[in-house]
Amino acid sequence: MKKQWWMETVGYQIYPRSYKDTNGDGVGDLPGIIEKLDYIARLGVNLIWICPFYKSPMDDNGYDVSDFYNVDELFGTLDDAKELIRQAHTRGIRVILDLVMNQTSDEHPWFVESRKDKVNAKRDWYIWRDGKRDKNGNRLPPNNWASFFEGSCWNYDDLTGQYYMKIFSNKMPDLNWENPELRKAMADMARWWLDLGVDGFRVDAIAHLAKETSFRDSKMKVEPGRFAPDWRKFSNRDRLFDYLAEFHDEVLTHYDCVTVGEVGGGANVEEAQRYAGFDTKGFNMVFNFDHCWKNGAFGDEGRTLGKLTTDVIDLKKTFERWILGSEGKVWMPQYWLNHDHPRVVSQYGDTEEYHRESAQMLGAVLLTLPGTPFIYNGEEIGMTNVDYTSVDDFNDVWVRNYVPSARKRISEERILTHLRRASRDNARTPMQWDDSVNAGFTTGKPHLKVVGNYKRINVRQQESDEHSVLTMYKRLIQLRLHSGMKDVLIYGKFALVQQDHPDIFAYRRFDDNSEILVIANFRDYKVNFAYEVDTYELIISNVVNFGSELLPYEFRILRAKGG
Ligand code: NOJ
Repeated sequence: MKKQWWMETVGYQIYPRSYKDTNGDGVGDLPGIIEKLDYIARLGVNLIWICPFYKSPMDDNGYDVSDFYNVDELFGTLDDAKELIRQAHTRGIRVILDLVMNQTSDEHPWFVESRKDKVNAKRDWYIWRDGKRDKNGNRLPPNNWASFFEGSCWNYDDLTGQYYMKIFSNKMPDLNWENPELRKAMADMARWWLDLGVDGFRVDAIAHLAKETSFRDSKMKVEPGRFAPDWRKFSNRDRLFDYLAEFHDEVLTHYDCVTVGEVGGGANVEEAQRYAGFDTKGFNMVFNFDHCWKNGAFGDEGRTLGKLTTDVIDLKKTFERWILGSEGKVWMPQYWLNHDHPRVVSQYGDTEEYHRESAQMLGAVLLTLPGTPFIYNGEEIGMTNVDYTSVDDFNDVWVRNYVPSARKRISEERILTHLRRASRDNARTPMQWDDSVNAGFTTGKPHLKVVGNYKRINVRQQESDEHSVLTMYKRLIQLRLHSGMKDVLIYGKFALVQQDHPDIFAYRRFDDNSEILVIANFRDYKVNFAYEVDTYELIISNVVNFGSELLPYEFRILRAKGG
C-alpha cells in the first residue's frame, strides 16, 4: 500500500442548506460556509465534503440536479464556489464535492428533451420502457421493483405513454449509463470541476449505475399492492465496474484527487474491494452503511416507545468484519452519520444526563479507528435528533412519500416516534451556532425548525469550555493528525479486545513500535472491564478520576508503556 495524502486527513461533511445563512432567506449558503472556514480550521480538519449545491428544483435538497455546471441561487453563485475553494485551500483544507452520477432532476435539459418523443437524441440517456396491463386492462409499471423512496421504481409519462426508471423520487429520473454519450458527458462534467480546483468527490449512489437489464419481475415475496425492495436488481452489478474503470481512465487518473463512493444496496467487504481496492480502477474508498442501525431504530418503525438499546457486540463485530476484511486491500472511510442518518448521540449515546460524555466517547471511537474519519457537521458539538411534535414539521422527500403509506398501517404516534429516530431530517436541522434566535443560523425563518436544545448545545458555548464535546473533538483530531501517535492511529493494525463484552467497545491499534488501547463504554451505567492497567499510560479520557469500573459512556485512550 502506498501512503496517500487523503489517508492523513480528517474529513468534515457540510450540509450547505443547514450550515450558515448569510442572506436571511432561511437557507444556508456558500458565503455562510466561507464565513465559517476559520471555525472549521480551528476544529482541525483538513478536508471538507460539501453536499450538492448545483442548480436544482430541490425535490431531494439538491440531489436532483438541473444544471451540473452552476450553483443554485439559494446557495450563491459560481464565484462563491470558486472563492470557497480558494479560501479553504489557503487554510490547508481540501474540498470535495458531491458528484451525482445516478440521476438528474426531471427539470434537467437532458430529461426535458428525452421526454419529448421516442426518437430524440437524449431519449436513450434515460431508461424508458413500456408498461404492462393487468387482467382488467389497468396500466402497470414494467416490473414490480420498488424504489428507495416508496412505491414503484418507475413513473409513467403521458407524453410518450412510457415509463421512466427512477429509483429515488419521481422527479429524479435515472441516467442510462449504457449510453456512451451520457458517460462522456458525465466525465466532462467531473473534469470541469476538477479543473476548477476541487480536490475530489464523494460520489453519490454509485452502487446503482448499472441495472439488471432484462427488467424481469423480482421473485421476492411482498404483500399484494407493494413493490419488491430487491435492491440487488440495481446495486453492485458487474457491469458497473466497467463504467467505473472507464471513468477512472478518462478522469480520475489525470488528477491528484480523492474519491469516496457511496455504496448502499448491501455491498459487502469483497465488493468494496472491487470499488476501491488498492489495485483496481475505481475509487479510493467507499462508504458502507452496515454499522448505522445497530439499535434497531429503523426496523422497529416506532413500535418501541422507550429508549432503544445498542447491540454493542453486533456493532463492534461489524466494524471488525470491515476493518480486517479491508486490511492491506482497500482503504476505509469511517463515519458515524451523514445527512441520511439520525444524529449519532441520539442513536448510540445519550441526549440528556450523559450528553457530553457520550458524544465525546463516540468521537473518540471515530477518531481512533483505521481509515479516514468523516465528522458530520454538528456532530462535533453533539447535536441531537429533532424534538418535533408533528409529522408536518418534517420536510424530507422520503418522509413525504413514506407518511401517506405508513398512515394506512400504523398509528400517528408510531409514525412520529419513528421519524424522530430515523428520519433524515434529524441530521438536517440548522447548525447550532449560539443561543440567539434560530441558534444564530439565520435572521430569517429557517427552512427546518431548529432543535429546541440549542441554548444548551451550541458552538459558542462549547468553544469557550475546555471540557466541551467540541474541545474534545479538537484534541482528538490533533492526536490523530499531529501527535507522536499519528502513524499508529492512521496506519496501525486493529484488533478487538474482549470481543464478546456486551457493553464495551475496546480495541488495540498497533504497529512495530507502539500500541494504543481504546476502551469505550456504550452504556449509561457503570461497567467492569478488566485489563492490565499497569501496562498502559493514559493519553486522553472524558473523566477525571477513573478506577476499575468505567463510568457511564467513559472512554480511555491509553498507550502501552515503552511503546
Ligand atoms: C444518497 C444521498 O446521500 C441521499 O441524500 C440522496 O437522497 C440519494 N443518494 C439520491 O441521490
